[in-house]
Amino acid sequence: MSKEYFLALYGEEGINVLKTPPPYTTLRVNTLKIDMNEAIRILELLFPRYDIKVHEKINDLLCIPVNGPFNIQPVEKAIFVDNRCGEAILRGSHIYAPGVLGTTSDFQKNEIVSIYSISVPINRGTKTTIENVAEPFYLGNGVCQMSRREIFSTNKGLAIIITEGIYQTPSFENLPKNLFFPQNEPSALVAHILDPKPGESILDMCASPGGKTTHISTLMQNQGELIALDKSKKRVEELKSNVDIWESFADVRKIDATKAKQRFGGKKFDKILLDAPCSGLGQRPKLSFQEINVDSTALYQKKFLEIACEMLKPGGILVYSTCTVTQEENQQNIGWAIENLELELINQEIMIGDASEPLGLTQVFSPISHSMGFFIAKLRRK
Ligand SMILES: C[S@@+](CC[C@H](N)C(=O)[O-])C[C@H]1O[C@@H](n2cnc3c(N)ncnc32)[C@H](O)[C@@H]1O
Repeated sequence: MSKEYFLALYGEEGINVLKTPPPYTTLRVNTLKIDMNEAIRILELLFPRYDIKVHEKINDLLCIPVNGPFNIQPVEKAIFVDNRCGEAILRGSHIYAPGVLGTTSDFQKNEIVSIYSISVPINRGTKTTIENVAEPFYLGNGVCQMSRREIFSTNKGLAIIITEGIYQTPSFENLPKNLFFPQNEPSALVAHILDPKPGESILDMCASPGGKTTHISTLMQNQGELIALDKSKKRVEELKSNVDIWESFADVRKIDATKAKQRFGGKKFDKILLDAPCSGLGQRPKLSFQEINVDSTALYQKKFLEIACEMLKPGGILVYSTCTVTQEENQQNIGWAIENLELELINQEIMIGDASEPLGLTQVFSPISHSMGFFIAKLRRK
């Protein structure tokens, strides 16, 4: 369903744009620990080839350009990765052993290989040719950190360092994680739209891995009450780890948000963030098009909207966001919410996306004309 969906929305040309990274990548700064000038100084030392700037409208976000496309020539030996790994490479990542599916030949440590992502995975360890893999997409060249044999006999470790990417952007793997949070532009806008204040009581319903939770706690200066929920043990552990690294005061709990009302008794919040689980179709770069079921996801999101509304104080604020582009999960769900729940749409103080029709007031981000596909609605409990 998803490839046809994109073809209908953006055409073949749009699909080709989706295969490229956005023009810049973004890092949010822990402004409780360092100011923006200090943050730029740290990054300029680490990445001297990049012109780093504060985002025009988001004052705690830094933009780092993605350079390219470069005209790079493939070498004879090649390795194949799946599309997910290909997307990570386009975002500046190196390649770890589990990501390598197959190769054209043997190679030793320190040899140079070309890297292709393929649309139909092959068994790990396969030796094949470029002609025999599905839709090979050339990503650049890299230096092997392991021999072919070592790569396929382990499940961890750095396998290939990208030395010449078609697109080049710094790898954030070694950045101090307590000072910088890699976060895409619309995600870094969401907490500003919620506009949390020190002393308020705030619920983050679907919080892992914690990009927005840590942001909200920074804007609250760790004062007041911030409860962050997620459903699964693994996701809660990831959230807890990021909250601890960021030294955020957020109170992390493993709770199914659709049952939050019972779990919190009659407790009501000043503000709620509902960054809903969604079909995730807004990602860019995008090389893979998996099957999705938009109707069941949209229905699930309505359930969260209902609970969120019930847990808000009168006059309280709900921000609803998704990283997807379907009308069902975005405009239609919000249209349903303002008709069926005690909620009204209100203005968003910072606009970066387009005002979305027919609702007005909400903002949508297209993965083609913006950095990725995203949706934000701000609502008030009547
Ligand atoms: C879009 S992600 C949230 C991203 C997060 N807000 C951030 O900025 O880092 C959606 C999250 O919803 C969680 N989720 C899905 N169903 C849930 C439920 N019933 N209750 C709580 N969390 C749920 C998923 O585990 C996932 O972590």
